[in-house]
Amino acid sequence: MKSLLATNKYFWKYKWLVFGGGLFIFFSNYFSVYPAQSLRDAIDAVVEYVSNEQTDNLIYIKLLWFTGMIIGFSLLRGIFMFLMRQTLIVMSRRIENDMKNEIFHHYQRLSASFYKKNNTGDLMNRISEDVSRVRMYTGPALMYALNTLFTFILIIGAMFKVNATLTWYVIIPLPLLSVLMYFVNDIINRKSEAIQEQLSNLTSFVQESISGIRLVKSFAREPAMRSKMEDQIMDYRKKQLSLAKTDALYFPVNLFLIGMSTLITIYIGGVQYISGKGSLGNIAEFVFYVNMLTWPVSSLGWVTAIIQRASASQKRINEFLDTSSEIEYKPGNDFIFKKEILLEDVSFIYPDSGIIALKNINLKLQKGKVIGVTGATGSGKTSLAQLLLRIYNTTSGSIMADGVGIEKYNLQQYRRQFGYVSQDVFLFSEQIKNNIAFADEAHIGIERIEESAKKAAVYENIMEFEEQFETMIGERGITLSGGQKQRISIARALAKDPSILVFDDCLSAVDAITEKEILGELKKVIHDKTALIISHRVSSVQLADEIIVLHHGEIVERGTHEELLNNGGYYADISQRQQQEDF
Ligand SMILES: Nc1ncnc2c1ncn2[C@@H]1O[C@H](COP(=O)(O)OP(=O)(O)OP(=O)(O)O)[C@@H](O)[C@H]1O
Ligand SMILES: [Mg+2]
Repeated sequence: MKSLLATNKYFWKYKWLVFGGGLFIFFSNYFSVYPAQSLRDAIDAVVEYVSNEQTDNLIYIKLLWFTGMIIGFSLLRGIFMFLMRQTLIVMSRRIENDMKNEIFHHYQRLSASFYKKNNTGDLMNRISEDVSRVRMYTGPALMYALNTLFTFILIIGAMFKVNATLTWYVIIPLPLLSVLMYFVNDIINRKSEAIQEQLSNLTSFVQESISGIRLVKSFAREPAMRSKMEDQIMDYRKKQLSLAKTDALYFPVNLFLIGMSTLITIYIGGVQYISGKGSLGNIAEFVFYVNMLTWPVSSLGWVTAIIQRASASQKRINEFLDTSSEIEYKPGNDFIFKKEILLEDVSFIYPDSGIIALKNINLKLQKGKVIGVTGATGSGKTSLAQLLLRIYNTTSGSIMADGVGIEKYNLQQYRRQFGYVSQDVFLFSEQIKNNIAFADEAHIGIERIEESAKKAAVYENIMEFEEQFETMIGERGITLSGGQKQRISIARALAKDPSILVFDDCLSAVDAITEKEILGELKKVIHDKTALIISHRVSSVQLADEIIVLHHGEIVERGTHEELLNNGGYYADISQRQQQEDF
């Protein structure tokens, strides 16, 4: 329950809606008492008319009057109920919206290591499922709890005023109803959750088998997939049927207990009437009250179950909101790259796995210069690039940009200086031009987009598509080849016109001629920039001013292409082998 205190700030934000909602609930209940009283008066008037053998026509006017009252009050009640939903349910939707924004904002700030620890499905769930459960608390649960409170005060108050003894008898079965409803709701909730979970298993299964359909077909695994699907659906059906059974209990239990209260009313009321206490109208009035109490009382159990679920969800949300990123977005100096970035004795151990990725790296990235990085797979090349962009903090040693430690700079501003092409290309399912202009869609115009595409040697390819730069890519559009994707991601980095370019193995899927073309373009723009080119291929790094070779996280060779060839080490070795492959 304590975790739900976190929602109080929202109630405070929408305090006028809470207040208005409370007021409307009060009035809707206030007017609900009167129809019962009019009913009593109408019945008593008829009884009197019949027993006194009156013959005037006044009774018809009276009955019309009472009917009018009942309709009028019911109408008023309805209006206030409408207003109550309009305030409280609307408020809960706004809170839901605020919460989603808050969570998404937090997602964007958390560091790469957070995303390694949590799986995507779980993170998606918090922003969708968990938030909607909390909404059930801030909206419907709050509304029905207040409603129950006012109904109790007003209706039971009215009942006691009319006939205290009868009231006591009538309300005896009600707590039992509440408790029973709580248990029934609890079971329903648990079963619905199991169904939800199974449904998401089912959806991911279908989704994966659709995205992996080519693999499935090429391995001829269709029958196996079908039988897995049948199992999943069977499980889903079983859970649905079990819920249906509990659901079926809901109304009978409710009706049974209400029936009990009604019976008690008629019996005790009848006995009292015979012994001269109370009127026939009273009995009708009480039956009316009992029916009005049904929903509030059974909703009490419902509300409790909802609050429990919401509090579990809010706890999960809080846990996550309390996670802070070890790489903070705090205000810092602005960074405009002027001279150099210096890595001094940098070592890096992945915090979660303990893998030593880099050891004692000393490296200088100077303006106008290109650094090449090569080395076997797993030698730490990508890790180096990520440290440079401050995706992770170094474990020891320092990275100084223009003489200042990079952690002193404003993080976003610092990263904006970079054009990073990562090893695993990711493109959004959008138009090509939006992907290239990703760095700043508002300011990167079509000319710059086309120019970057030309530099990345992908312009011709794009022009061959029917819709050219407006071509949709990804699930809703065309599928690009590996090399096309890489070059679009290079264009995306170039369109930003950054001061520091970091290419992580992004020429691996292009042919030798295209590679030369792209590197030639890079040479042209490099004079007021710097670049770090990571590659397995000698041809990609050979033009660099300095090449470093990494081995198990350490720099084992460094120098220019010629120097390294003369060295006769790893570099000379792979250079020779790659040349042979080319022929
Ligand atoms: N996010 C991570 N969490 C934990 N360990 C990691 C992570 N990324 C990489 N590693 C480990 O760090 C080491 C260096 O990996 P890195 O990705 O830097 O190599 P690489 O030189 O880029 O390799 P490749 O040429 O295959 O891209 C490897 O042993 C790898 O298993
Ligand atoms: Mg890598």
